[in-house]
Amino acid sequence: MEYVTLGRTSLKVSVAGLGCGGFSRLGLGTGKSEAEAVALVRQALDLGVNLLDTAAAYGTETVVGEAIKSVPRDSVVIATKAWVPRGEGRSAADRAVQSLDNSLRRLGTDNIDIFQLHGVSPRAYDQARDIIAPALLKEREKGKIKYLGVTETGSSDAEHAMARRAVEDGIWDTVMIAFHMMHQNARTRVFPLTMANRVGTLLMFAVRNIFSKPERLATALRELTASGQLPRWLADAPNPLGFLIHEGGARMITEAAYRFVRHEPGVDVVLFGTSEPEHLRENIAAILAPPLPLADRQTLTKLFGHLVGVGLDPPYSMPGFSSA
Ligand SMILES: NC(=O)c1ccc[n+]([C@@H]2O[C@H](COP(=O)([O-])OP(=O)(O)OC[C@H]3O[C@@H](n4cnc5c(N)ncnc54)[C@H](OP(=O)(O)O)[C@@H]3O)[C@@H](O)[C@H]2O)c1
Repeated sequence: MEYVTLGRTSLKVSVAGLGCGGFSRLGLGTGKSEAEAVALVRQALDLGVNLLDTAAAYGTETVVGEAIKSVPRDSVVIATKAWVPRGEGRSAADRAVQSLDNSLRRLGTDNIDIFQLHGVSPRAYDQARDIIAPALLKEREKGKIKYLGVTETGSSDAEHAMARRAVEDGIWDTVMIAFHMMHQNARTRVFPLTMANRVGTLLMFAVRNIFSKPERLATALRELTASGQLPRWLADAPNPLGFLIHEGGARMITEAAYRFVRHEPGVDVVLFGTSEPEHLRENIAAILAPPLPLADRQTLTKLFGHLVGVGLDPPYSMPGFSSA
């Protein structure tokens, strides 16, 4: 495993971070048992992953809590999240603190390394910064939190308006950003700002559905060619991203997707979500592999560099799923 210092924090984190949400939710989203989910987290820890990203909304905090019982608390970096509560002023701040206390209880710990506000829209940002963050900073003084972070919504904020404000405000030590082979605009819109402000970045949506489900990619390509955003051959090709698979390149599309994001300047941690032990091994290997060949990266940028907001499926967009 490789480790980096996360922005201006003093956390040394693995470049591969286990995402405990998404459609897989460590397997709880795909019909696996809690024991299997705990085993998956332990497998990640055994392979050197030390950053675990969960959330109150995922229903996986107790699994994470169980899995980390077997390792020293300071050997893992726990990131979790609370929604920005609806409602005004003090009561919203109280509910965020309540969410923090509930997360501490479910995780079985007395402190959270990175406490994030979850899926903050540009509209909710003022409330997050001016009402919720001050209340959470008071909890930090009590030792319940080490660092504060914020995650963007993805689908409804494809231009990263919220994150662009957050990284300049000095309150948030980390931001979670959507970036992938067909949604590359964080390269110019976010990463120069995070690097300048030394804000740590956690990457989400590297694979999601679009690069793990061929039918989802086919739908996206049909829509993008119909609207003139991509050349027609991409929708007609039987294996549209097949140019990435070759000797010296990637062996699988998911591997290409993780390798593409991992080496982008400004990316600290690549989150990956899975329910499968074999995928977990593959994904860590992909994240630790060298950059894709230059020619492949150039093709991806030439073909897809102008696209915005593709493939950022919200959690309710696939049948049978209930969390982000
Ligand atoms: N706004 C937010 O705060 C927000 C939003 C989205 C995500 N996140 C965070 O980011 C994390 C990562 O997002 P994500 O869960 O969408 O992860 P992802 O790694 O981009 O995609 C995961 C999907 O790809 C599949 N997959 C993974 N590895 C595979 C492989 N080697 N071969 C084939 N299929 C593979 C998974 O299915 P299998 O189970 O079959 O592997 C799953 O359906 C989340 O868990 C969460 O922690 C946060």
